[in-house]
Amino acid sequence: MISHIFIIGMMGSGKSTIAPLLSKELKIPFTDTDKDLENILNLDIKKIFNQLSEEKFRELESAYFLEHIKKSSTIYATGGGIVMIKKNRHILKSTGNTIYLNASIETLNNRLVNDQKKRPLFNNKNSLKVILNERKRYYNDCADITINIDEKSSKIILNEIIEKLNR
Ligand code: S3P
Repeated sequence: MISHIFIIGMMGSGKSTIAPLLSKELKIPFTDTDKDLENILNLDIKKIFNQLSEEKFRELESAYFLEHIKKSSTIYATGGGIVMIKKNRHILKSTGNTIYLNASIETLNNRLVNDQKKRPLFNNKNSLKVILNERKRYYNDCADITINIDEKSSKIILNEIIEKLNR
C-alpha cells in the first residue's frame, strides 16, 4: 500500500517550508497542494476564492488531493482547510503519517501579517482564533505526530519530525 507523509496545520504554521526540507532529508518527493491548484487553474488562491468561491475551492482542493494520493509516496504540504472535508480526514488518518504543526495564535498572526502569500481567510488575530477553534479537533484527530512549533527554527522542527518518525 502507498504510504504518504501529510503535513497539516493552520495557515502560517510552516507546512510549505517544512515539506521541501523533509523531502530532501527523506528523499521522498513533496507536493504543495495550494501551489499545484494555483498552477492548474492559473489563478492565485485569493482569485480562486473571489472568482469561484470558498466552497468551490474546497471541492477542487479535495478532488485534487484524493486523486493525487493514488500516486507514489509523497510528502504533502496541505492547505490549512484540508481537514474540513470528511473524506480528506479519512485519508489523513489511514494512508500514512500525518504531522500536525501546532502553533499559537500569536505565532501565526505574527507570521501572517508579514507574509507575501495571499490568504483570503486571514484578517486578524480574531479570525485566526475562530478558524482554529473550529479545526483544532480535526487537526488533533488526524495527527499521528504533533510538533509544537512556537519559537522553533525550521531545523529544530525538522529534527523533531525525523526523530518522531523513527520511533
Ligand atoms: C486555507 C489555507 C491556505 C489556502 C487557502 C485556505 C485555510 O493554505 O489553502 O487560503 O482554509 O486555512 P495555507 O495553510 O498553506 O496557508
